[in-house]
Amino acid sequence: MANLSTHYAGLALASPIIAASSGLTETVENVIELEKVGVGAVVLKSIFEEEILMEMEQIKQQMTGKPYVFPETMDYMDDEPHEDLIRKYLRLISEAKSAVKIPIIASINCISNQKWTYLASEIEKAGADAIELNLFSLPSENEMPASEIEEMYLTLVNKVCKQVNIPVTIKISHYYTALGQMIKKFSKTGTKGIVLFNRYYSPDIDINSEEISGSFVLSSPNEIALPLRWIGLMSGNVKTDFAATTGIHSSKSAIKAILAGATVVQIASVIYKEGLSVVNEFNSDILNWMKEKDYECISDFKGKLCFKGADNPASWERVQFMKEFRHFVK
Ligand SMILES: Cc1cc2nc3c(=O)[nH]c(=O)nc-3n(C[C@H](O)[C@H](O)[C@H](O)COP(=O)(O)O)c2cc1C
Repeated sequence: MANLSTHYAGLALASPIIAASSGLTETVENVIELEKVGVGAVVLKSIFEEEILMEMEQIKQQMTGKPYVFPETMDYMDDEPHEDLIRKYLRLISEAKSAVKIPIIASINCISNQKWTYLASEIEKAGADAIELNLFSLPSENEMPASEIEEMYLTLVNKVCKQVNIPVTIKISHYYTALGQMIKKFSKTGTKGIVLFNRYYSPDIDINSEEISGSFVLSSPNEIALPLRWIGLMSGNVKTDFAATTGIHSSKSAIKAILAGATVVQIASVIYKEGLSVVNEFNSDILNWMKEKDYECISDFKGKLCFKGADNPASWERVQFMKEFRHFVK
């Protein structure tokens, strides 16, 4: 009898479909609804480092009455962080945990390595089953050399992995010069899973008003190409679980991601667009496809089409590229 159960980052899941971190996962009520429609796990909306730092700054100003912060106040703040946002987030974790049976993955959106080890411990105490570190830095204005940014992230991930006993996964962007190498380095930090890829806020431009106008908040289906490529290239060569995210808008895309080597897929935009029931559809479509193909479980086809075994998988991809494009005619 075919079934959808799988293991991701050491967690037992009844389905490979995970609700990605988003506004859909920031209340206990939504988490309950997501469990009902059949997600295997939920990644809670991230707690953002900038928000915490902004809140701390406000509190410091209230304490001193001045924008200038006395050094001794800073010491006090560092010893005893007083962030309401943090408390609220920890309450969300513990309430979600008692309301549902599916694993609850907390998400920390980091831009530096300050304070994250403290917060990771608190998140573990609040009952989260795992922590996803959302390594979020758009390296546009950054004065820091690439090697330092990379080292900062590796140090941060190592520190958090050592600090807690629950699994730590990381969600990364594709903005690395040597992405393959970086994924390999991350896989050696103690992280139990790598989520490919983070999707940044992308501003649009209104050509009439000549202003920046909103953004492409939701992904489109062809955005799956990037995670599909990199999971296909890396999953056979790196020992970690991969979660695919960005552009998974159909059960077909979910199956493709698993064939490429993903253990799970994380979805957000398709739920925003089509509603919660889409999760149910994903589950039953995948199950039907498995039955047609005579697969009993996810591991029967996970990674079946990944690229394995070369020191330089990029060269394989280049050969495929030349084959495809040589024969492309209008
Ligand atoms: C409205 C919205 C809010 C999001 N908030 C977060 C967040 O707080 N933390 C995070 O790691 N990702 C966040 N994401 C990104 C999603 O988790 C997901 O990785 C991304 O949307 C790509 O998946 P999709 O193509 O299924 O939407 C958000 C996405 C959306 C649409």
